[in-house]
Amino acid sequence: MRFKDKKALVTGANGGIGQAIVARLRAEGATVLTTDRDSADLTGDLLDGAFCDALPAQAAEQMGGLDILINNAGIITRGKITEATDEDLRRSMGINVEAPFRLCRAAIPIMAQAGGGAIVNTSSCWGVHPGPDHPVYIMSKAAIASLTQCLGRDHAHQGIRVNAVCPNEVNTPMIRSGFEIRGLDADRAIDELNASVPLGRIAEPEDIADVVAFLASDDARYMCGALVEVNGGKPVG
Ligand SMILES: NC(=O)c1ccc[n+]([C@@H]2O[C@H](COP(=O)([O-])OP(=O)(O)OC[C@H]3O[C@@H](n4cnc5c(N)ncnc54)[C@H](O)[C@@H]3O)[C@@H](O)[C@H]2O)c1
Repeated sequence: MRFKDKKALVTGANGGIGQAIVARLRAEGATVLTTDRDSADLTGDLLDGAFCDALPAQAAEQMGGLDILINNAGIITRGKITEATDEDLRRSMGINVEAPFRLCRAAIPIMAQAGGGAIVNTSSCWGVHPGPDHPVYIMSKAAIASLTQCLGRDHAHQGIRVNAVCPNEVNTPMIRSGFEIRGLDADRAIDELNASVPLGRIAEPEDIADVVAFLASDDARYMCGALVEVNGGKPVG
């Protein structure tokens, strides 16, 4: 029960990894408010700056505090720069970078006033080691990794720890939809991907959620600005 009496806000809570994060935090005693585009406790579009700016205070008011912010929502834009539209750029930077920027900016004063807190951002192995053919996604994940390192340093003195999880491939709708768009059978494609991972399989959402929970918990009490790769031993190829 590492999160007894803790209040947490989780973005992208309906997604593959988001659902596992919410389940883990609740299983260990946290009060969790979920946010997503639809059917969440706090429904809204992370591309709406005013929604993001107001969300931490709204969550704190509803729960009676805000100890933990999990910036998990994200989208992937595939393809080389020459295939990327203005809209791809706007949406990727808006959801993957600007939204967590706004949420951190609004949550930090609330946490500071209460004596501290923990923020876990979601980067990617690709945000740390760029892979091929996804420059828009990778640039956005590098930006959130950099923001995490900056905030981890700048706000440690307020008792606020900011860290990021950097997964490699995870078995969620995000990765499965990529195969489906290319006309591939997702189950068969994932079997092939499993064979490329030294541990023998790509990650399940719970493999990532457990690391997010660790970073959000007091077990990680001395970690600030860390980018934690969770990759089953597979380097970015
Ligand atoms: N799946 C992977 O292989 C993988 C690898 C590395 C990093 N990640 C990162 O992990 C995080 C979670 O990914 P996932 O695989 O669970 O993806 P997912 O697509 O299953 O879930 C993403 C969630 O974000 C929400 N979201 C997207 N745009 C939104 C918007 N404008 N407003 C509000 N909510 C919005 C979606 O509704 C969805 O519930 C993402 O940041 C992703 O980049 C995933």
